[in-house]
Amino acid sequence: MNRSTSELLKELTLNEKASLCAGLNMWMTKGIERLNIPPVHMYDGTNGIRKTNSNEEMGITSENVPATCYPTGSAIGSSWNTDLLHEVGVALGRESKAMDVELLLGPGVNMKRTPLGGRNFEYYSEDPCLTGELGAAFINGIQSEGVGASVKHFAGNNQEFEKMVTSSEIDERTLREIYLSAFERIIKKSDPWTVMCSYNLLNGTYASENEHLLNDILREEWGYEGVVLSDWTAVNDRIRGLKAGLDLEMPGPAHYNTKAIVEAVQTGKLSEEQLDRSVGRILKLVERVTGNKDTQASGEDGYHALARKAAAESIVLLKNDNAILPLRPETASSIAVIGRFAKKPRIQGAGSAKVTPTRVDIPLDEIKELAGTLATVSYTDGYPEDASVNEDLIKDSVTLAMGADVAVLFVGQPEYAESEMHDLKDIELPEHQVKLIQAVAAVQPKCIVVTSSGSALVMRPWVQHVPGVIHSWLSGQGMGRAIAEVLFGYSNPSGKLSETFPVKLSDNPSHMRIRGENGKLYYREGLFVGYRYYDRKELAPQFPFGHGLSYTSFTYSDLEMVQQGTGVTVSFELKNTGKRRGKEVVQLYVHDEECKWTRPEKELKAFAKIELEPGEKQKIIFELEERDFAYFNTKYNRWTADTGYFQILLGSSSKDIRITGRLHCDFGKEEITFHKFSLLSDWLSDPAAKAVLEHCLNEMNEHVTDKVYLNEEFIGFWEDFPMVKILQMFGQTWMNERSPDEIIQELIAQIDQARKG
Ligand code: BGC
Repeated sequence: MNRSTSELLKELTLNEKASLCAGLNMWMTKGIERLNIPPVHMYDGTNGIRKTNSNEEMGITSENVPATCYPTGSAIGSSWNTDLLHEVGVALGRESKAMDVELLLGPGVNMKRTPLGGRNFEYYSEDPCLTGELGAAFINGIQSEGVGASVKHFAGNNQEFEKMVTSSEIDERTLREIYLSAFERIIKKSDPWTVMCSYNLLNGTYASENEHLLNDILREEWGYEGVVLSDWTAVNDRIRGLKAGLDLEMPGPAHYNTKAIVEAVQTGKLSEEQLDRSVGRILKLVERVTGNKDTQASGEDGYHALARKAAAESIVLLKNDNAILPLRPETASSIAVIGRFAKKPRIQGAGSAKVTPTRVDIPLDEIKELAGTLATVSYTDGYPEDASVNEDLIKDSVTLAMGADVAVLFVGQPEYAESEMHDLKDIELPEHQVKLIQAVAAVQPKCIVVTSSGSALVMRPWVQHVPGVIHSWLSGQGMGRAIAEVLFGYSNPSGKLSETFPVKLSDNPSHMRIRGENGKLYYREGLFVGYRYYDRKELAPQFPFGHGLSYTSFTYSDLEMVQQGTGVTVSFELKNTGKRRGKEVVQLYVHDEECKWTRPEKELKAFAKIELEPGEKQKIIFELEERDFAYFNTKYNRWTADTGYFQILLGSSSKDIRITGRLHCDFGKEEITFHKFSLLSDWLSDPAAKAVLEHCLNEMNEHVTDKVYLNEEFIGFWEDFPMVKILQMFGQTWMNERSPDEIIQELIAQIDQARKG
């Protein structure tokens, strides 16, 4: 493009402008040849590029152009490593350019309200801070290569059940603190070139035409100036959508809507300025994606090596009793590998995020290679391909395990369970795998279970019988190698759970309302999603949010906290006290001791992944901002941090807090706006109001028998009563013909006077 956006807007006809607001086909925007405006080529996705063989096809069930398959969202979310996410983003940007992809439709950053969400494997976490930081790093990586990202699905699309016709009913505070917070962080820290709106309705209005969501919050409040595009077919009323700020409809060509837009402008239903705003943003996107075409490809081997590294960072060592891992040749010279997933690993989930990998590491082959001559490796299938329980396969497994020094079982959710378009039915392992683990563990005490799934798993029926558990998630094409390296200790596990693993499904806070009903899904658990709920409920999970073991150990000491302005600097020392190099994910949570309103016990506000040699120490510094102490105050429609005491909790998981500090933070005082129903406690908390009130009560007490003295007893009983009602209760003989309303208004005028003067 050689002309500026404003020049182009002048030259484009109304029809051309309207046509630019929808795609050309499944994966391209329209170009306007006469003005030298090229189309934009976009493809999924979230953990790799899903480029279809033609621009007309959706390609969900077919093989597509091979590309590197990185760990899926929940896997890489468990790396807690922003540098890694950035590196993967850069690699994806480069691979995209080599494949002529200019805009990548990812990452997916929806919150995990329920572990049954069919697309949970695509999303990073149940926590908005972790999700937001990882998402921003990933997008900054992609976009640094001149390729656009599309953060999705905005917003409130947290499961698959009837999502196209269901309204996520979310109260404003929960929406802001839980479901929008990651998006907000991402918009502010990485300015994604596009945002994809979701399929669902949010509080009664389709996300694709939701003024409050797209205009008031995204554009006005967060200042977003990029393109908002629709999820594929998420458009309902195109004109309403444009007015709300939905720029681009996908897929196209949607000629009927081009016609509708032209008519709407001609009849005055839509102003041309509104159309121009959207077209202008689309032209800016074209300019951005055509800006950098230099390709610096790392080559297939380089990308595969990164996929392995990313998988190694994502895998979580959940349990390691008696240091059963890593396997040592002295104690594990024969290894029985059991379970089909060892030969055919599940590296990703199904749906639009499914990548056709360039190659796949097979765990069994990698185990054999790393065992070399030090150990013999035997294998059996363990369970059939279908869901049936096959006693013969279990017997074979038991025999194999008995004859070996150690058994390594590969199990997980079946392939069909985790996919876009439907939710999971449960989060237990299939019965044939549970029976297999129980039978093998009964004869072989040295039993290590390697689980695969994109969502939390329930492990209650078997976890207590085995000393070692590794959760490998769906970690992409390098997962096989990464698992083998963790097993033998070539890499030291450093992943931490990005979501809570409950003891049982019904422990989950959304359990009573997992599904919507007749088009409405009420998020009644409110703020209490994931660990926020388990903490508050004092309910022990199987493995808590943030949990993950290492082959080394770390200590935390020397915590210092200083408030400067409205920010707080937190520092402490981390030391590797074990015998191996390793990485620790340090997690900083904030607890508000004093807030009047209900807040979660603690919330993650910062984290870092630190690598240390044995014996090495490092001073870690976190800079917190006022917002890290704030909640969304629906009274003022903004974030509020209350002056008062807070605790800073630093730990190795949400349940393994190693060091805690307490400090008083001064965020100033909110000036109360007094009105008829202001409570006695409001009047007493404001010096001017208190003085006015005391004066008034003195006068009143001279005329009444039941006198009001503002002592502890009176306040303790009446503090939540509106002042107007207190006057009604005690001041009748004094007020005479003046009404309580009139008196309150007089008092409020006196407060205003006192504040001014
Ligand atoms: C998904 C999006 C995806 C789009 C294009 C939709 O079904 O929800 O995440 O980017 O298809 O494949």
